[in-house]
Amino acid sequence: MKSFYITTAIDYVNGSPHLGHAYEKVLTDVIARYRRMMGDKVHFLTGVDEHGQKVQASARKEGIAPQAYTDRVSQLFRDLLPKLNISNDDFIRTTEERHKKVVRQVLQQLFDKGEIYKAEYQGFYSTRQEQFLQEKDRLPDGSWPEIFGEVTEITESNYFFKLRGYQEWLVEFLTQNPNFIFPAYRQKQVLEFLKEPLNDLCISRPRERLEWGIPLPFDEQYVTYVWFDALINYYSAVADLPGVWPATWHVIGKDILVPPHAVYWPIMLKAAGLALPQGIIAHGWWLTAGAKMSKSTGNALNPLDLVSEFGTDAFRYFLIREMNVGQDSDFTREQFLVRYNSELANNLGNLVNRTLNMTTRFAAGVVPAAEVTEEPEAQLHALWTKTRDEFIPLCEGFQFHTALERAMQFITATNAYIETRAPWKLGKSAEPKDQALLRTVLATIAEALRLGVALIQHVVPTTTEKINGVLGYTPGPVWRDELNWGGRLTGAKVAGALVLFPRPAPPEKTPAKA
Ligand code: MSP
Repeated sequence: MKSFYITTAIDYVNGSPHLGHAYEKVLTDVIARYRRMMGDKVHFLTGVDEHGQKVQASARKEGIAPQAYTDRVSQLFRDLLPKLNISNDDFIRTTEERHKKVVRQVLQQLFDKGEIYKAEYQGFYSTRQEQFLQEKDRLPDGSWPEIFGEVTEITESNYFFKLRGYQEWLVEFLTQNPNFIFPAYRQKQVLEFLKEPLNDLCISRPRERLEWGIPLPFDEQYVTYVWFDALINYYSAVADLPGVWPATWHVIGKDILVPPHAVYWPIMLKAAGLALPQGIIAHGWWLTAGAKMSKSTGNALNPLDLVSEFGTDAFRYFLIREMNVGQDSDFTREQFLVRYNSELANNLGNLVNRTLNMTTRFAAGVVPAAEVTEEPEAQLHALWTKTRDEFIPLCEGFQFHTALERAMQFITATNAYIETRAPWKLGKSAEPKDQALLRTVLATIAEALRLGVALIQHVVPTTTEKINGVLGYTPGPVWRDELNWGGRLTGAKVAGALVLFPRPAPPEKTPAKA
């Protein structure tokens, strides 16, 4: 069986990971876990991008060797993964031998095929973006946009990859594969970009200017340009694993879609005779007060602070519930607290508590069997069927935020069902009819809870495990078979209590300035 192979971008290691990096890992993990639930054999890769000007410069600033620098910072990215409960199968560093070897092989192969040539280049260069600029990159007033940082004019010989020769092929490919890029409106932007003629891609940097890179196999006086090096990680990590390549999805941020992932990468693969991925998912940005969160602007949030305050699952839940994949979202603590309190603590947490408390109080902790189906039960069953049937298509379309919303609406409806049936009143009655109804209510809410959490397990895996644990339930191996209403908990012994989402401490007051 061909693997469902999914990757994240590999992060630059010139600073510590922030919320934007964490989001990409969590989103990719949610897709990976969902595919495993659907029965796929998943291979999930993430990693770090360790070469290039930025790392070289950061290491110099500290007066240490780039390898020592990147060893330390890469570890921060690696350590983040278990804290976010990321289920990756592999972690690649571009300084690893397995990667360097494949990059050199691909370069040599393209050189031998005549896809790479040497030429003199004269023009403007942005050190910050590690990119040569063109006249069309200037602002109307002739200056260079801020994002390029310092721009200098240089003349040097370099190696170029023949991108232009593949332009028509790429346009044709994207036209034939309208779902190559998600969301679809981004694919239109790529086609728009391809209306202008492509320039061949400069893929080398002279070693005297950039020491920290992979030497070209056919000219050791040069190292590879970062994108050529970085993109190949997706292939180098699995080159020796049968049944994994090509990738199913590359998950990246919208800032690195055009041109690196949507133009360079498909052309590199085509030229190297390698199969193309099924597609690319380009997510949006987390913003603070409308601006992209990034280490250079100093507005980045440390994901570990939120995880230590609220727990991994609440953090994962918020990211996935809040962000519509592809669009941007503003991160605010207030909004985090609203979702934490109203959806996790007061809705899901409350249903768990009521289920455990009432089963303990009215049925000695053993889930009874349902005996009656009247209007309120029938309504909840019907809502379940609708929720379940809509859930899979939503996940298939990466609408995880809506899928979660629906799952939570079902939990809300279950809480409302409890209010309608008022089991605390039934518990006071000795009438056999009321007792049968009480048993039905307990059975219904336990089953609804079991089903509801089955829909959120890819987002909040630890919470799901804990809830199944206190319900005395071990899910079967086939997730889809778990989704039928069936009184599976009848006879299960439940635990007395479970604290899932404790009330967070009120935010610290900043002392008033004197
Ligand atoms: N090293 C390159 C990627 C090479 S992939 C072959 C790079 N690194 S990065 O560290 O700058 O960004 C890594 C990923 O984090 C990118 O997909 C980027 O879009 C994402 N994010 C960085 N800041 C972000 C936000 N504020 N919000 C969401 N994701 C963003 O680019």
